[in-house]
Amino acid sequence: MSRPTVRSWAEPYKIKVVEPLTVTTRDQRDAALAEAGYNTFLLPSRFVYIDLLTDSGTGAMSDEQWAGMMLGDEAYAGSRNFEHLEAAVREYYGFKYLVPTHQGRGAEHLLSRVKIKPGDRIPGNMYFTTTRLHQELAGATFVDVVIDEAHDPDSLHPFKGNVDLGKLQAVIDEVGPERVPYVCLAGTVNMAGGQPFSMANLREVRALTEPLGVKVYLDATRLVENAYFVQRREPGYAEKSLKEILLEICAHADGCTMSAKKDSLVNIGGFLATNEDDLYEEACNLVVVFEGLHTYGGLAGRDMEAMARGIAESVRQEHMAARIGQVEYLGDHLVSEGIPVVRPIGGHAVFLDARRFYDHLPQDAFPAQTLAAELYLESGIRSMERGIASAGRDPVTGENHRPNLELTRLTIPRRVYTQAHMDVTAEAVYATYDRRRQARGLKMVYEPKYLRFFRARFEPL
Ligand code: F0G
Repeated sequence: MSRPTVRSWAEPYKIKVVEPLTVTTRDQRDAALAEAGYNTFLLPSRFVYIDLLTDSGTGAMSDEQWAGMMLGDEAYAGSRNFEHLEAAVREYYGFKYLVPTHQGRGAEHLLSRVKIKPGDRIPGNMYFTTTRLHQELAGATFVDVVIDEAHDPDSLHPFKGNVDLGKLQAVIDEVGPERVPYVCLAGTVNMAGGQPFSMANLREVRALTEPLGVKVYLDATRLVENAYFVQRREPGYAEKSLKEILLEICAHADGCTMSAKKDSLVNIGGFLATNEDDLYEEACNLVVVFEGLHTYGGLAGRDMEAMARGIAESVRQEHMAARIGQVEYLGDHLVSEGIPVVRPIGGHAVFLDARRFYDHLPQDAFPAQTLAAELYLESGIRSMERGIASAGRDPVTGENHRPNLELTRLTIPRRVYTQAHMDVTAEAVYATYDRRRQARGLKMVYEPKYLRFFRARFEPL
């Protein structure tokens, strides 16, 4: 046997603490799923084997981060951990002001309340559930300005998170720039399958909006993952570090909202960052009402310390190569067996294309919700619906949004599972695919008012 000259890829860490997994029987899963109204969000985690519901707050912290937890300065005001976090956000994201929040939606709430007036439009590169709802609750209408390719699971466009400048221009022309306070631009667009935008596109968005006084706010939740795709796919960036690319992205924006539960490798935390003096002042006024003092925003000192350290770890090359490498490993496995998935494989998850997986089910039978339920029954693996249930209703007409993408997300937590877990996951998907014709779909029997997918209940058809 000839020896390879390049060593095989491996996780860039070793495991110090382990958490046993639970294996359940098919009968237990049948009962648990019925009890949960066929909604994987309502399953107790003790009935879950491999948990791919989300990459949010589910990552493993490093020994450095855990050591930082012991250095929590739990002063009510002016904790030194806040200073560390502020320094980290300045160093890696480059924004002047930081307002910590308990998680991403806390920051979205502040930004939306301060910036939006009733009747405004907020263009965005596809919606995210909590982001859009905060915009709507503040009186705005969200307008999707992502390129058409983002809505096509088969398009191999390398930057499916890009903004269609024609669509953006049309929104501004229709209502005037004074009714468009900012463009909301998300890194690796979650609902499109974890797809990045390019630096070139961001520069064009900035060039279009800046002369009109329209601001650019990033959803930085998975922006380091976006930076990794820029490094790999965009000419001129292969030799730049992730840190440099991240700073360059942020330099084209006025600020960001952040769910640190993703990129920044913590179990809880988020922030609003901005270069705008007025926004900072007003956000400080509101954060004390809704989150906590402006130097802790609903977090313990130890949480801010873990976040500051996690931000530094998030831009390490070997970390990001392994993180996205693992997602691609699972995705490539599934593609090689002909399983319909969104391509290119995204940054944080592999998205099964439930429309094609269950091509005999209409969208009203919730194919993606059905697939999440069937995969759980098959294997104990928990995934999440990202289709018509997640899309919710138009707040004006009350009609269901009908997204073209009807997806089931296998979301990979950071530094938690091994390649063997990915293999087991792939095998479970194959088994579910083999008996796909037996799936009958679901009907919704309880629909909450906001963000219905979290707590909706279903029954089999
Ligand atoms: N923006 C994006 C792109 C997100 O994916 C999330 C959360 C948020 C904002 C809100 O942040 O949860 O900290 O309040 N996404 C999680 C997910 C829930 O599973 O995709 P949060």
